[in-house]
Amino acid sequence: MFKTVNSDNVHILDAGAGVGSLTAALLERFIQEKRKNSIEVTAYEIDPVLTRYLTENLAYYKSSFSKNGIPFKSHLITGDFIADTTSGESEGFPGCYTHAILNPPYKKINSESMHRIQLRSVGIETVNLYSAFVAISLMLLKDQGELVAIIPRSFCNGNYYKPFRELIIGNSAIQRIHLFDSRSQAFKEDSVLQENIIIHLIKGAKQGKVVISQSADESLHDLTLNSYSYSQIVKPRDQEFFIHIPNGEKNHLENSKSITYTLSELSLEVSTGPVVDFRSKEYISKEPLEGYVPLLYPTHFNGKEIQWPKEGKKPNAIALLQETQKMLYPKGFYTIVKRFSSKEEKQRIVARVINPRKLDFGYIGIENHLNVFHSGKAGIPEDLAFGLAAYLNSSFVDTHFRSFNGHTQVNATDLKQMKYPSRDVLIQLGKWAKGLKDFEQSVLDDRIKKLL
Ligand SMILES: C[S@@+](CC[C@H](N)C(=O)[O-])C[C@H]1O[C@@H](n2cnc3c(N)ncnc32)[C@H](O)[C@@H]1O
Repeated sequence: MFKTVNSDNVHILDAGAGVGSLTAALLERFIQEKRKNSIEVTAYEIDPVLTRYLTENLAYYKSSFSKNGIPFKSHLITGDFIADTTSGESEGFPGCYTHAILNPPYKKINSESMHRIQLRSVGIETVNLYSAFVAISLMLLKDQGELVAIIPRSFCNGNYYKPFRELIIGNSAIQRIHLFDSRSQAFKEDSVLQENIIIHLIKGAKQGKVVISQSADESLHDLTLNSYSYSQIVKPRDQEFFIHIPNGEKNHLENSKSITYTLSELSLEVSTGPVVDFRSKEYISKEPLEGYVPLLYPTHFNGKEIQWPKEGKKPNAIALLQETQKMLYPKGFYTIVKRFSSKEEKQRIVARVINPRKLDFGYIGIENHLNVFHSGKAGIPEDLAFGLAAYLNSSFVDTHFRSFNGHTQVNATDLKQMKYPSRDVLIQLGKWAKGLKDFEQSVLDDRIKKLL
């Protein structure tokens, strides 16, 4: 993905180099291109077992470049990339790198960990080693330096990665994103499989069009390439700076003139279910007992609404007490959405309606594996609840959602950030949807197509 830069002397940064495969790939390309400029490599690797091989590989390239009269220098820094580069006494060459190539380690950074403190000391606020490695590498590049990284896609949406997205967008131009369709075990986060991407950035460059390429896997046998305007990747008014990766399917919602409303314009809110069952064990029961109210899990989803109670592994009820009441929602209609779709479900967003006529209790508990649409912590009009559920279950929403979310998790922030039809349109849709036996996909899609 690197552009060919003929005039510059090259200084490659490989953070978390392993045995040096990525650097080797780039050097092989320079050999093929018969470049004559001098080459310098700085590789960071913490694992001493790997650095033995890395040393050998760098020595191999030194000898092959030298044979052809090309000056080649390498620096192997055995140690922690984050600690070294944030220390103020780095062994590296900040501001000198022309190319950063990386396949960084992947691990959550806890809020009080050493890495977090070190990163904060240089103004980087991020939650995972992979984003930390990319952020630092970008900061260390020369102006107009290029960065190519293979990383999970989780930074493209979600609140935790917002500072990282701002850092990328503020300091570089996104040239290209390659999307692997198959979700890999390689970047396992909370056992949520997610898609991986390769991103190509140029520091300090003017943002132009973005190339999105796609392939099923690393064989690249079915590679497709498309070019998009930047406003299709990062929406002009999006305060969250979500990075959308159009996947070739036509995103009807994006171009719709009528689906333009934010949730707050609809006077609606969406929240994660507040009952975390393992923290409220003493209040929760499998059986619906006297003095208890329903506690809803994804398992209760049935038809367009809810089946409750339900025999199975999950509890059904939560005690209605002073201590629990603040976690409960008052009786009313609500649209609820699963936070984790199951393997069998084709759609990422699965929405149902809580109908108080069938669940006739003063309060209702919504467990943490669900998101709930409400209005100031109270119910919403019946038709609006059904309209919202019908809309959210449509294939159009699914395609749009997949363009910015590459894992199976549906966050409340994702739902907040999306656009919706007007309240009147949703109410009309709800009146219609109430009459359906089920949320059958083709029936929903035919109806919602007319709203676009
Ligand atoms: C996913 S591997 C990639 C290796 C290599 N870049 C490749 O693509 O084959 C990440 C590498 O980062 C190294 N690593 C992990 N934490 C590190 C740290 N804090 N500083 C430097 N290297 C680190 C690991 O030992 C591992 O070799």
